[in-house]
Amino acid sequence: MQTNYGTQQTDIACTTIMPTQIIPDMVDDVRASLLQPPRSLSPKYFYDERGSELFEQICSTPEYYPTRTEHHLLSKHAVAIIKQTNPDQILELGSGYSTKTRRLFDACQETAQHCIYAPLDVCEEALIDAAQKLAEEYKWLKLKPLLGDYHGGLGNLPVTQGAHLFVFLGSTIGNFGQTTHARDFIKEVYNAMGSRDHLLIGVDRVKKDHILEAAYNDAQGVTAAFNLNVLHVLNRALNANFNADEFTHSAIFNADKERIEMRLTADSEQKIHIDDLGASIHFDKGDDILTEVSQKYTYSGIEKMLTAAGFSITNHYEDENAYFSLVLASK
Ligand code: SAH
Ligand code: AVI
Repeated sequence: MQTNYGTQQTDIACTTIMPTQIIPDMVDDVRASLLQPPRSLSPKYFYDERGSELFEQICSTPEYYPTRTEHHLLSKHAVAIIKQTNPDQILELGSGYSTKTRRLFDACQETAQHCIYAPLDVCEEALIDAAQKLAEEYKWLKLKPLLGDYHGGLGNLPVTQGAHLFVFLGSTIGNFGQTTHARDFIKEVYNAMGSRDHLLIGVDRVKKDHILEAAYNDAQGVTAAFNLNVLHVLNRALNANFNADEFTHSAIFNADKERIEMRLTADSEQKIHIDDLGASIHFDKGDDILTEVSQKYTYSGIEKMLTAAGFSITNHYEDENAYFSLVLASK
């Protein structure tokens, strides 16, 4: 299925990727995760247009070190990565506004490695906005934005001739809930790849809890707004009546599980109606919803995850503080 978005500068066509495995729709998913304690939500619901914009703003807060650290690593190593992988197609999972990916395009330009860029995301607005800007900035880049949910499987991703560079940045692998889910997904990526393909993955490392907690509790309150925005998404998509002013954001580091846990906690007793579920939820003051986990990894944990899937690590780039890892892996 193709949707055409006419713009002044360029025509961007967004292709919908159909799932290859059954995934619940939002009604069933939210019913299963939110109606009974422990209540949780899939982090993919953060990313309506406003959520994606708020995530971009989080990336610029002084406390959120992952983006600038990964950006720095990409700026430094992109040419080596492109020379090593010679991609005919760059396929990015959870691409958002493709901000950091530009460093790979700069490197392609420098090395005359002209290629196709196929970004996959659930947020159509971010995909279109990014593609319009990229079309202006990199005239040679062939754009193929893909609208879809990577939890639905990767079997329908467009395969082209030649070498593919799969890109999964931002430590989004940390949002897979349980490390076993992350491992299963990395295996799926491996299975979707051909023998000449590579995976470039960015992973946030375990570090002192005050640095981690500051990154998810920025002083300007952008992360809090991002977290609370999911309630507006539920109100709009499922005809619910959450009052975001009656919930409080929190993000704590669970040292046992080595992950940040982000929650919304009810400030008062309240009854929420979700019309599309035909259900109500009773919150006592202090009851919460787990809205996101952000798993942090040791380097050996990253190595285990990749090698268990069958990958060989080709290069590992890290910053001087070992805050973040950028790993290039091959089949
Ligand atoms: N890669 C970018 C954005 C990271 S934010 C960066 O490193 O800055 C996570 C991105 O993944 C968002 O753009 C979000 O819309 C997308 N995303 C989240 N869940 C997804 C899913 N299930 N399928 C596809 N994209 C998803
Ligand atoms: C996209 N993802 C890797 C971010 C993270 O750090 O887990 C999302 C985020 N949540 C709060 N701040 C950023």
